[in-house]
Amino acid sequence: MSKYFDPVSREDDLKALKRYLQPLKGQPGMLMGALHHVQDELGFIPKEAQELIAAELSIPMTEVYGVITFYSRFTEIPKGKKQISVCMGTACYVKGAVKILQEVETITGVKAGTTSEDGRVSVSTTRCLGACGMAPVLTEGTQVHGRLHPKDVIALLDHLKEDPKAMEEAQKHLEKAGESV
Ligand code: FES
Repeated sequence: MSKYFDPVSREDDLKALKRYLQPLKGQPGMLMGALHHVQDELGFIPKEAQELIAAELSIPMTEVYGVITFYSRFTEIPKGKKQISVCMGTACYVKGAVKILQEVETITGVKAGTTSEDGRVSVSTTRCLGACGMAPVLTEGTQVHGRLHPKDVIALLDHLKEDPKAMEEAQKHLEKAGESV
């Protein structure tokens, strides 16, 4: 399980962040670096970290929050061990990205923009990935899969093969759809 769901680790993370921020105090232009640091370290930027950054760097919370929501690299939601993202750019949308996303959500049981409670998988949508010739496209971690049909999705989600519970869910789903894995 991800440590990010553990309140004890969270406290340690905040102490470490406070130490990291100490030498940056009073220096202008440190916000982006601090946010990248937290994103890299934790995989997301929790509210407590935002508040600490704002307090330690004497920056209004509204500014911290504004930067986080502006840049797609930053997220307030903890990412799962497996990260699946479906492209919703125009080319992918026209080629059936909505159906691909529905299939991903059904198979994983995770709605777009959220992470499973056990931290196993997160599902998101993304803007154009620059692979429009392969539309519709999804990414699983760093892997890009293109020219997808909704039926292809189950074979692509590798974590299903490593996770008996998830595989059982997927099988149920496909049985309902009159298919087999
Ligand atoms: S629209 Fe999906 S890769 Fe460009």
